[in-house]
Amino acid sequence: MDHIVYLDYAATTPVDERVLDAMMPFLRERYGNANSLYALGRDAYKAMEDARERVAASIGASHPGEVIFTSGGTESDNTALIGLATGGGRSSGHVIVSAFEHHAVLEPAEWLSKHGFDVTELGPRPDGLIHAEDLKAAMREDTVLVSVMHGNNEIGTIQPIRELADVAHAGGALFHTDAAQTLGKVDFDVDELGVDAASFSSHKIYGPKGFGALYLRKGTRMAPYMMGGGQESRRRSGTQNTAGAAGFAKALEIMDAERAAETPRLTALRDRLVEGVLGRLELTSLNAAETDTRLPHIANFIIKGVEGEAMLLHLDAKGIAISTGSACSSGSLKPSHVLLAIGCPQEFAHGSLRVSLGRYTTEEDIDFFVESLVPVVERLRSMSPLYAKIKAAHEAG
Ligand SMILES: Cc1ncc(COP(=O)(O)O)c(C=O)c1O
Repeated sequence: MDHIVYLDYAATTPVDERVLDAMMPFLRERYGNANSLYALGRDAYKAMEDARERVAASIGASHPGEVIFTSGGTESDNTALIGLATGGGRSSGHVIVSAFEHHAVLEPAEWLSKHGFDVTELGPRPDGLIHAEDLKAAMREDTVLVSVMHGNNEIGTIQPIRELADVAHAGGALFHTDAAQTLGKVDFDVDELGVDAASFSSHKIYGPKGFGALYLRKGTRMAPYMMGGGQESRRRSGTQNTAGAAGFAKALEIMDAERAAETPRLTALRDRLVEGVLGRLELTSLNAAETDTRLPHIANFIIKGVEGEAMLLHLDAKGIAISTGSACSSGSLKPSHVLLAIGCPQEFAHGSLRVSLGRYTTEEDIDFFVESLVPVVERLRSMSPLYAKIKAAHEAG
């Protein structure tokens, strides 16, 4: 493929060479099944447990057994939502999820609503945050589970998880957070955050796709979602992915080791990006701009009077990879549920661009993006009757 300027790190990341090196032995000579009793199997088992210990240490889990390896963020979210709601044989109760969760949480929540549970979708405020007092007001006597994501994958706002978990616990409910976008990128400690369960995805941190983990606090009742051979202490059946576990643990270690230097680097790049876009294009804004607690690598813009998809395709033709919302909902032309949830009008939500930066992003990439975006937007706007109307209304005050 020709050189591409990749600015979609929130969708996925390339596997780091060091991660690949950590994985390769388990795809070649150390290929045993971790459940087999002979030496090759014991070696695989040891590798799984080693990876589990390293992940547990990184997230502050008190016991490695609190880390369950899964096939990724989606499986972890599905397992947490359905497994925690129905844990201990429960078949009814009230569940609260935030309205701007990833579909990997919203869809199982909807499934629960069709299978005996009452579900409330709690809206964020325009600042892109779920507020503790709003959660308090939504809690009911029969609330059994609250799920609010740590960092939003489209707008990058980081939720006040500790406060929210405290509200859930005060009402007797369990608290789960989807940390697919935050693990490795901000400090993450299960005790400081006070969560009972948390979902992680390996391919967001330069690890392999199709791998992840679920943190489950010791003593928390959860019905298994994947049933079969009883692996992962009967909580997630299926032959264990040794290469995935070794890669994920290595990927997380690198994130932890490099975060202190990487966070300010990414923040400076993001600020350069925001200044470039807002400075060069009128009638453009950054979503949830007023909120300081945000991921360093995600910026989501509204560019009024243009379709996000049209911008995406024109930029693609210039070798730039960006997204209009989350990658998972692209392909559908519906405006982002995240932007609608923070109160963005439907007509503007269509003009959103999510730019997400990562380990290999340079200043040159940012400048190339801005220089490429400006003529694309100008051209699309010159053909847009909607933009003419928006501009006239703006000038009329
Ligand atoms: C917040 C969030 N949750 C869950 C997922 C799904 O993770 P995976 O792709 O590992 O299934 C993603 C990835 O798009 C995400 O951004």
